[in-house]
Amino acid sequence: KKRVVSGVQPTGSVHLGNYLGAIKNWVALQDTYETLFIIVDHHAITLPYDTRQLGKATTDTAALYLACGIDVSKASVFVQSHVPAHVELMWLLCSSTPIGWLQKMIQFKEKSRKEGVENASVGLFTYPDLMTADILLYQSDFVPVGEDQKQHIELAREIAQRVNHLYGGKKWKKLGGRGGSLFKIPEPLIPQAGARVMSLTDGLSKMSKSAPSDQSRINLLDSKDLIVDKIKRCKTDSFAGLEFDNAERPECNNLLSIYQIVSGKKKEEVMEECKDMSWGTFKPLLADALIEHLSPIQVREVKILNQSNTFLRVCPISSMFCSFHK
Ligand code: TYM
Repeated sequence: KKRVVSGVQPTGSVHLGNYLGAIKNWVALQDTYETLFIIVDHHAITLPYDTRQLGKATTDTAALYLACGIDVSKASVFVQSHVPAHVELMWLLCSSTPIGWLQKMIQFKEKSRKEGVENASVGLFTYPDLMTADILLYQSDFVPVGEDQKQHIELAREIAQRVNHLYGGKKWKKLGGRGGSLFKIPEPLIPQAGARVMSLTDGLSKMSKSAPSDQSRINLLDSKDLIVDKIKRCKTDSFAGLEFDNAERPECNNLLSIYQIVSGKKKEEVMEECKDMSWGTFKPLLADALIEHLSPIQVREVKILNQSNTFLRVCPISSMFCSFHK
């Protein structure tokens, strides 16, 4: 069986972008592939974070994986920091990664902008090597992610090729090395719809956990009232009717795409259904479709958290850091 690896950081609450870009697609892969879904807590400490929150966010993210349909009888679900080999491999990979490759990473540039590059943590800079380790450690074939992770997967491929070239192959076999390819070259799996869910308050920026306004995103655990309110207040435009793929209407494209995926309809169906609608008609329809899709996930999440206190352990790094602070 081919192998699939992916993960979500336990930072803040999991939102619709994480779900439609990644987790929802993982569910469909469990039957066909050997799947590993990681809660990547070491990634979550690369930006300033609340030590008391990390353990809880780790448990909550694991519970959400299961509530979204990840089935532990088919997939392996685990916490990154519980497997020290991730950080160990990362160090080996870091030592074969040219600094220039990391300097090109868009996410580093974006995430370090606020504090300035000089003040960003070294962990934030080497973050793509840790992600590469997550993938290469398991000789993964496929990595299902949203569009924003594409550059990191491309880097992972380049690092794998470089290490294979430097330390694999015939030349090393002669010297007693392993020979052959050390690492498989992984491929990204980016969904056709949902790969880039945009903010509710600005159709040109991606929906993200770090955006200051909670109005900009739908969190998977938002209450019905909150979903209705966020959709009611989300940014729209003053064009007549609704349409996909008009570059002048990014919000319209985003909201229709979200509606398409959560309602399980085809794009053509949604086009036909919504083309003459006003925002006043469409918004309640979208809010209802979101609530209908997310409610069962929310019910399952509560059940899982109530049942499995013993199976979901607190992650060691958070408890270690918490005790430093006492
Ligand atoms: P993270 O935690 O930022 O996001 C988790 C997943 O959600 C996707 N995503 C989105 N998809 C569509 N629209 C959006 N607005 C949106 N926002 C986020 C991301 O593409 C991602 O798939 N570095 C990774 C986590 C990671 C990882 C890995 C992934 C660590 N190791 C190994 C795959 C394999 C990250 O920060 O994702």
